Amino acid sequence: MEYKPGSANQVNDWQTMILLYNSALKEVGTKLEILNDEFQHIHQYNPIEHIKSRVKTSESIVRKLKKRGYESTLENMQKYINDIAGIRVICSFTSDIYRIADMLANQSDVKVLYIKDYIKTPKESGYKSYHMIISIPIYLSDSVIDTKVEVQIRTVAMDFWASLEHKMNYKFDMNAPEDIKRELYECAQMVSALDDRMLQLNEEIREAKKLEEKAGTT
Ligand code: GTP
Ligand code: MG
Repeated sequence: MEYKPGSANQVNDWQTMILLYNSALKEVGTKLEILNDEFQHIHQYNPIEHIKSRVKTSESIVRKLKKRGYESTLENMQKYINDIAGIRVICSFTSDIYRIADMLANQSDVKVLYIKDYIKTPKESGYKSYHMIISIPIYLSDSVIDTKVEVQIRTVAMDFWASLEHKMNYKFDMNAPEDIKRELYECAQMVSALDDRMLQLNEEIREAKKLEEKAGTT
């Protein structure tokens, strides 16, 4: 089987390219589901609330290339667009995000190309989320092709804010007036405070459970 590493690792017809990205989403989706099931099995707890995935539309791919000054070739799409395949993982608590990210990154067929931690360093808008660009090998009939996937990992609260902020910003062509931006930023702080409080509450509950179990065994 032919292995095509690095920049030669590309396909030159649209249908095959989309098939690859769809396959990569299936692979990564299954990996995440397995991790979640195993967690349930060991700790009786689900870190993942739900998973959403999508392949970017052709219009959106072309628009992004144009914006960055690249011609719309299949080569440029694979080289410069990292989010043709995108998967969003919605977790219960902030601590789950790093747990899931580490477990995925440690799998031997997953290559982490880069990470943007917008939880440690939120964006100016207030946006929080953990982004990983990874690549995984896709086995076709006569070749193995490393395929990129953007993985966005966030809590339910972060997702709530990001979805509504995106919808509102869209109404202003992604350029809302300053006062609206400021209000959205303040909402992001409230959402973060809620996440911190829920995490703390969950820890308190876990500690109480532990003490209860200990008392039961002595
Ligand atoms: P694009 O934003 O996709 O062009 O890529 P980029 O290279 O600038 O990457 P970045 O990590 O900034 O953003 C990637 C994705 O994160 C976006 O496509 C959105 O899905 C999400 N995102 C980033 N910033 C924001 C934000 O301020 N608000 C919302 N709602 N989503 C954001
Ligand atoms: Mg994007």
